Amino acid sequence: MSGSNKSEIATSDLMKQYVMPNYGRFALELVRGEGSWVEDDKGARYLDFATGIAVCSLGHCHPVIQQALREQGEKLIHCSNLYQIREQALLARHLVEKVMGAAGKVFFCNSGAEANDTLIKLARKYGNQLSGPGGRYEIITCEGSFHGRTLGGIAATGQDKVKAGFEPMLEGFKHVAYNDAEALENAVGDQTVAILIEVVQGEGGIHVVSEVFLQTALRLRDEHDLLLMFDEVQCGLGRTGDKRTWDAVIEKLEPDAVSWAKGLAGGFPMGAVWVRADRTTKNAAGDNGAEGQLCDALGPGSHGSTFGGTPLGSAVALAVLEEIEKERLWENAAQMGAYIERALADWDSDLIQSVRGRGLMLGFVLNVAKLEQNEAFKQSGQTAALFVVSHLMDKGLLTVPAGVDVVRWLPALNVSQEDVDLALNKLKELLNELGG
Ligand SMILES: Cc1ncc(COP(=O)(O)O)c(C=O)c1O
Repeated sequence: MSGSNKSEIATSDLMKQYVMPNYGRFALELVRGEGSWVEDDKGARYLDFATGIAVCSLGHCHPVIQQALREQGEKLIHCSNLYQIREQALLARHLVEKVMGAAGKVFFCNSGAEANDTLIKLARKYGNQLSGPGGRYEIITCEGSFHGRTLGGIAATGQDKVKAGFEPMLEGFKHVAYNDAEALENAVGDQTVAILIEVVQGEGGIHVVSEVFLQTALRLRDEHDLLLMFDEVQCGLGRTGDKRTWDAVIEKLEPDAVSWAKGLAGGFPMGAVWVRADRTTKNAAGDNGAEGQLCDALGPGSHGSTFGGTPLGSAVALAVLEEIEKERLWENAAQMGAYIERALADWDSDLIQSVRGRGLMLGFVLNVAKLEQNEAFKQSGQTAALFVVSHLMDKGLLTVPAGVDVVRWLPALNVSQEDVDLALNKLKELLNELGG
């Protein structure tokens, strides 16, 4: 078939015929983006408060990303992790010194699920070293959490819907209610080796961790020699108004390991894991019986990823993180987030039950009972979240559903107040139309 013939076939038809149907997709086809704005194939413009689900941290096609792609693309795009990679080393240094501000080392991969699989392997390795194979390997995670779609990720995730049809699950996970400190305490047993927490849950509908829950996790870590691991894949790197999401809950807390992805390279696929240095394992870096640092526990040959930390990906991620640092974009996230929350509080709309989250990771909890008084909603057969997200899209604002009743706003960290005002106007207009 000739190229021109092919181009006449609608993208949605091509997708239907050739792409696996594992995503529910809107009809929208985006072809261009700049800053907080995107354009579809028909030339309609949208304000993007979805950002690829918290990925385009600097907005679309930011000049520093374009420059990094161009300059590194002309030098060296890929080489194996068999060799020294300067861009990867510089990126790791930035994450250790500027983001964590705590001694440790970094592993690079390509996604959040892969980063969390690394955390799971780290915990297992640590447990094996403490108590031999099959000794301590259990990881406690939270109900409502989301940790990715790999077999490790779905086993770790505290939501049945991601596990259904893929049983039997990888064993070794216990889920406790989020922010239930007593349940967390009761869940720790002889085989427990780690606790994995999203400091702000994203896919589960935007829930913020409580101080008591984190304090309890810290105490249990110390009492039972556990690893305290944070999944910062969605909430990390400035999105919630802090470089380290947990800073707003407990200052100077040092977790043992952290995973990142999504916004790390602003749209280029990149995941990473930081592991703490000042904690010993029995025989890190190999199995020779010597004591070593936790950050060396995954020694040569124990883990890897062909595309992890390539020169190109690392150069782009470093450019993104340097821009976040230079412009202190976590502060803009905090300010704009507070501004949005104030606006919503002023409206006091019947259709919005509450606003959850922090910074630019916000969830509007819809009042489904009130929305049910709207005939169009009743006829739609959609969840409340999907209904509102679809109608906002019709008004030129892209947002993301979370669960059945939460609409998420995840704008770029550098979003302007002008664009926030526009988004607020679109939301207000819709709420008025829907009778709220
Ligand atoms: C908290 C969290 N962890 C892990 C993941 C999985 O990341 P990825 O889709 O890059 O594998 C996600 C994705 O939504 C996430 O929100």
